[in-house]
Amino acid sequence: MLFHKTMKQNNVLVILSVLVYGSHAQGEKKSPCDIFVQDVNNLTLNCSRRNIDKIPLWPEEIKGLGEKDSHVLITFFNNSITNVTQLSPVPGNKIAISFKSNKIVEIEDDAFRKIDRMVYLDLSKNSISGEVLRSEIFQGPYNNGVYSDIALETLNLGFNEIHSLDRYLFQYTPNLTRLYLNNNPIEILDHVTIIALSSATKLEVLDLSKTDIDNIPLDAFKGLVKLRQIDLSGNFFLNVPESLSIVGKTLQYLTFNNNPIIELNDDSFVGLTNLLELEVGENENLEEVKRSTFSPLTKLRVLHLCHNKNLRYISHNAFRGLKDKWTLKEVYLDDNNLSELSTDLMPWNKLEVLGMTGNNWLCNCDLANIVTKQDAGSKFRAGEIPYCAAPMRLNGAFITNITVSFCPTFDTTFAAKRGFSFSDLRPKHILWSILGVGTVVGIGMICGILFNAAKTCYKKKFCQPIRYININSESSFA
Ligand SMILES: *[C@@H]1O[C@H](CO)[C@@H](O)[C@H](O)[C@H]1NC(C)=O
Ligand SMILES: *[C@@H]1O[C@H](CO)[C@@H](O)[C@H](O)[C@H]1NC(C)=O
Ligand SMILES: *[C@@H]1O[C@H](CO)[C@@H](O)[C@H](O)[C@H]1NC(C)=O
Ligand SMILES: *[C@@H]1O[C@H](CO)[C@@H](O)[C@H](O)[C@H]1NC(C)=O
Ligand SMILES: *[C@@H]1O[C@H](CO)[C@@H](O)[C@H](O)[C@H]1NC(C)=O
Ligand SMILES: *[C@@H]1O[C@H](CO)[C@@H](O)[C@H](O)[C@H]1NC(C)=O
Ligand SMILES: *[C@@H]1O[C@H](CO)[C@@H](O)[C@H](O)[C@H]1NC(C)=O
Repeated sequence: MLFHKTMKQNNVLVILSVLVYGSHAQGEKKSPCDIFVQDVNNLTLNCSRRNIDKIPLWPEEIKGLGEKDSHVLITFFNNSITNVTQLSPVPGNKIAISFKSNKIVEIEDDAFRKIDRMVYLDLSKNSISGEVLRSEIFQGPYNNGVYSDIALETLNLGFNEIHSLDRYLFQYTPNLTRLYLNNNPIEILDHVTIIALSSATKLEVLDLSKTDIDNIPLDAFKGLVKLRQIDLSGNFFLNVPESLSIVGKTLQYLTFNNNPIIELNDDSFVGLTNLLELEVGENENLEEVKRSTFSPLTKLRVLHLCHNKNLRYISHNAFRGLKDKWTLKEVYLDDNNLSELSTDLMPWNKLEVLGMTGNNWLCNCDLANIVTKQDAGSKFRAGEIPYCAAPMRLNGAFITNITVSFCPTFDTTFAAKRGFSFSDLRPKHILWSILGVGTVVGIGMICGILFNAAKTCYKKKFCQPIRYININSESSFA
């Protein structure tokens, strides 16, 4: 509900949920922004979608509002601002400012000097280049001949035109905790960029997704002694970068989707002993997970290995050395190209959640053993029971419907093979023709049609969307 009212600020504080327009006659000085008072401790200055191209004056009322320790959100979302000029002071102890989706190409020196309690700054979706990002833009108040620091904790620079960062960029932002550099044409983490990153010693969250990088120099994260979370998705890595091991003592969340990696092996996660969650998805070239791949991850709780459409093979030794001190609770293997899993791949009954939908499961005795005897069948989430793709007569059946008692009747020629294709059908056809059950061609055609129909319908089944660990949601202002 919008109330157009002119009222004194005392009334604002009394009446809840009132949106006050700066409707005092102010001539051309009238602010285009609206103040929204949630309560005395929570104030929003809405300057979004106003078609403004300059930073405006704040509404007059702001002067009387807010307590010393209140939270203030100022949003300029979706305007045409090109130049971030110095902002006027606002009350409050925690200030969040969003310039998301503007046309910023310039930021003035001292732009935030009067808002040194700014803890959150979103500059994403602009046209900011590395040259614009100088240390001077973050200078705090000037006292006794020196500039002091600002409180900035979260800085979103995503979707800009950054190739490189100034080595002194974080000189005045010692409390920087979350840095988003995603969707910038960085290509190479050069010497100065690395010096800049290393100077942000309190950094806990770093997003380098979609930055066109294929390598992280060995010492790049040397100074980041608190790094907890990193996203390296959508880049050109052929391997999981070895340089991550330098932050192995602190790193808890690694997201490594959509890279041209071909295999995971015992070198992939070396040193990441504190990792709690790992996500490796949408890696179209990934074919194999080799022995001891996950062995260094002695604290891992959640593994997302999904949407790797060419992933056909996971070594039965992939979790070698982990089984005695098993920590994994959730394992998601959905939407890969797997057909078989080894019975001793992991202690299946120790899992809490298991995802296996969207693969080409060959329902053989091993799978029956995993699902029934080792109780993996009880770990699937409601409505996410995987289907058999093979052998033919079980195509489309739930894998939880396959019981060990059926096992001896399974055609062992299938069990010996990896994967499934039409050529696999031949021995069965011969068997059928020997038994005089129809003609090879007739049955083959019917089976083919059925298989395709089942497959189409199975493919149509809505795949669980890939789950990204949303590192943005960490902030109270996101
Ligand atoms: C401020 O109000 C908004 C909108 O109701 C709410 O989402 C937010 O959590 C509040 N923040 C604080 C710090 O109270
Ligand atoms: C801010 O104002 C714009 C334009 O009037 C409106 O579309 C938007 O919903 C407002 N946002 C908030 C958080 O009130
Ligand atoms: C921003 O506003 C323009 C119109 O001024 C609109 O076309 C565009 O879709 C908006 N962008 C976003 C991200 O909402
Ligand atoms: C940005 O604004 C400042 C202050 O008004 C001005 O000095 C500077 O020339 C402007 N920069 C650009 C690129 O417009
Ligand atoms: C940085 O954080 C510490 C601890 O919360 C705080 O004492 C200090 O004032 C902050 N620095 C700035 C410049 O706000
Ligand atoms: C699973 O088995 C039940 C009962 O045995 C049967 O009704 C159901 O159709 C089967 N479902 C699938 C998809 O195999
Ligand atoms: C899955 O693997 C089979 C061989 O096992 C291959 O023929 C098929 O093309 C693969 N599927 C996809 C989607 O790549």
